Amino acid sequence: MNTSRPKNSGSELAPYGQTAVIAFVNEKGGVAKTTSCVNLAAALSQRGKRVLCMDLDPQANATTAFGISAEQAIERESHCVLTMARYPLERAIVPTQIDNVELVPASARLADCNKTLVMEVGREGRLRTKLREFYRSVLTDKYDMVLIDCPPSLDLLSINALTAATHMIVPVSTKFYALKGMALLGDMVSTLHEQIGATVRMLGILVTMFDKKTALDVTIYRLLKEAIEREFGDYVFSTIISKSVVVSEAEAGGLPVMLRDPDSAAAEAHRKFAGEVLDRLGHDIGDLIPEPSLAAAPRT
Ligand SMILES: Nc1ncnc2c1ncn2[C@@H]1O[C@H](COP(=O)(O)OP(=O)(O)OP(=O)(O)O)[C@@H](O)[C@H]1O
Ligand SMILES: [Mg+2]
Repeated sequence: MNTSRPKNSGSELAPYGQTAVIAFVNEKGGVAKTTSCVNLAAALSQRGKRVLCMDLDPQANATTAFGISAEQAIERESHCVLTMARYPLERAIVPTQIDNVELVPASARLADCNKTLVMEVGREGRLRTKLREFYRSVLTDKYDMVLIDCPPSLDLLSINALTAATHMIVPVSTKFYALKGMALLGDMVSTLHEQIGATVRMLGILVTMFDKKTALDVTIYRLLKEAIEREFGDYVFSTIISKSVVVSEAEAGGLPVMLRDPDSAAAEAHRKFAGEVLDRLGHDIGDLIPEPSLAAAPRT
């Protein structure tokens, strides 16, 4: 895996002009890929960034999180982008309830892609081709950031995301298996670099659903951070997303916690995370947000 630290100049984002395309990826399920992706989109929009989210998970959780129904998604969705050669990306984009955030929704039929595309030439690069066409078109400057929510497996959908992306963010929970998952991902990314010219780089590893009151979480966090730094480099974001009931309440209410409970510690942590993402991408991060830490008490 390319482990050089991600302080980027514009030229490194060349495939899509100045737009960063970030895949949220981890084959482990339930580590807050979707929650992090959706709340990062909301936090970036509050900083004036224009964001396109792409739901690449047949579970369509990001689609639901943005308040888009399956019926709305079925006409315009990532399945069409991946399977229909002449279906342009822009046709699949729908607005969300968040200013400056738009979405390519998903539905359950996205799962078919793993079967439909398996015999196709260039199957790993479908999304990359569509994104490149999109950025060569008149819409070149429409978005500052594209965020891709991946499914919990390293299947053809995740491979398409990693082949298209300029960067990846890996949400991890403080569990002992987390490092093993990182190694598998690293192997896959190396293969994509070597065999199909992917250029995706690690932007960072985000520790999620952390419980500072649990001694085991604190210990695993320390061990995980040490191991990641030893194996891969200084990639762990200093922002830690604590476990908090307001996050699941917001999900149940169909709104990202950034909008539903903007004064919560969870929303604050996601704003800090957005600042770190922009900083690592070399964007102007504007006003700095006070440092949350392991000690930041979530509202429960
Ligand atoms: N900080 C948090 N505190 C409490 N609950 C959380 C937090 N982050 C996420 N969750 C909850 O954990 C569950 C899994 O989160 P999420 O769907 O974002 O994970 P995921 O990695 O996208 O899952 P999948 O692999 O199935 O796509 C959800 O019910 C979500 O509301
Ligand atoms: Mg998800």
